[in-house]
Amino acid sequence: MKSYRIAVIAGDGIGQEVIPAGIEVLKIAAAGGGFACEFTPLPWGCDFYLKHGRMMDPDGVEQLMAFDAIYLGAIGDPRVSDAVSARELILPLRQKLLQYVNLRPMRLLPGISSPLANRTAADIDMICVRENSEGEYCGIGGRLHAGTPNELAEQTGVFTRMGIERIARYAFTLAAGRPRKMLASATKSNALQHVMVFWDEVVGGVAKEFPQVEYRKYHVDAMAARMITHPQTLDVIVASNLFGDILTDIGSAISGSLGVAPGGNINPERMTPSMFEPIHGSAPDIAGKGIANPIAAIWAGAMMLDHLGERGAHDKILSAIERVIGDASVRTPDLGGRATTADMTRAVTAALTDSEATKGTKPK
Ligand code: IPM
Ligand code: MG
Repeated sequence: MKSYRIAVIAGDGIGQEVIPAGIEVLKIAAAGGGFACEFTPLPWGCDFYLKHGRMMDPDGVEQLMAFDAIYLGAIGDPRVSDAVSARELILPLRQKLLQYVNLRPMRLLPGISSPLANRTAADIDMICVRENSEGEYCGIGGRLHAGTPNELAEQTGVFTRMGIERIARYAFTLAAGRPRKMLASATKSNALQHVMVFWDEVVGGVAKEFPQVEYRKYHVDAMAARMITHPQTLDVIVASNLFGDILTDIGSAISGSLGVAPGGNINPERMTPSMFEPIHGSAPDIAGKGIANPIAAIWAGAMMLDHLGERGAHDKILSAIERVIGDASVRTPDLGGRATTADMTRAVTAALTDSEATKGTKPK
């Protein structure tokens, strides 16, 4: 039987609650799909930092190379500066493991109401392909003359032809396989005359390889407004690291709840393990109460199975999620209900088991 080795970094806060929920669902999906997942927990995160003075083992990246994929919960704790926790765990993993695609579906699931008035599931079905390895997040810069009136800070954005080309090609390929075949590129070439003019040139060049895809570019501010006013006109979005970060928070907010939105940090060539995570953070305000919405983590787990080649298992988890959300009887507080993480997980596993039980007995 095929078996996948999964490194699990549940991390901090509600990461410790939603990842076990996801694992429960993944195990059932694996059993139904005739494959196995072997989960190896890694204790990294802010608690680890408070004990050891670092966010992960010094050879963390090497350890992770032994796995087929990484399942990440959330990183962040009020006792540790965000600059430390992100800069020493999530961001280096994305960069060092060459996970240059950050793939983030933004869908309003049937049954959830959007904060945008009168929008239904048919109106909000976008996916962001965010550049995940360079750009504004490259980490180059520094501070000078600390504490003096002459103090200065500089942070450089680095964009490479290879980096833009490969993210654009991934996004166009994805768009070409979707029913609407549309790609919108987020730019800001009116103000950032070096990097964003370059971005437009390179993305525009790749567009010529995909005549079947309707390609448009929008300045990122206009794109942000468009996501709110005309979400139905957007399909695949390609964006730089920082622009994609901001746009995907808008996307998940208009999809009803951050508790639902998943993401993948992907190395499409499979040279390194890819990493899947809910978009939400560690949510210290609700951590430990058992009420975090596990759907984003479960959906991220489904994306992981899809990446590993188990499309069928991905589709089954997604339809179980859709059934539970559509039914509306079991809802965590972020969706306006009173259900717990365990209630919601039980509902998903029941929907999944149910679909397994009726497999093959449905009239075609
Ligand atoms: C995200 C997060 C991270 C990012 C933070 C934690 C550095 O906001 O995954 O969207 O900006 O990429
Ligand atoms: Mg973000």
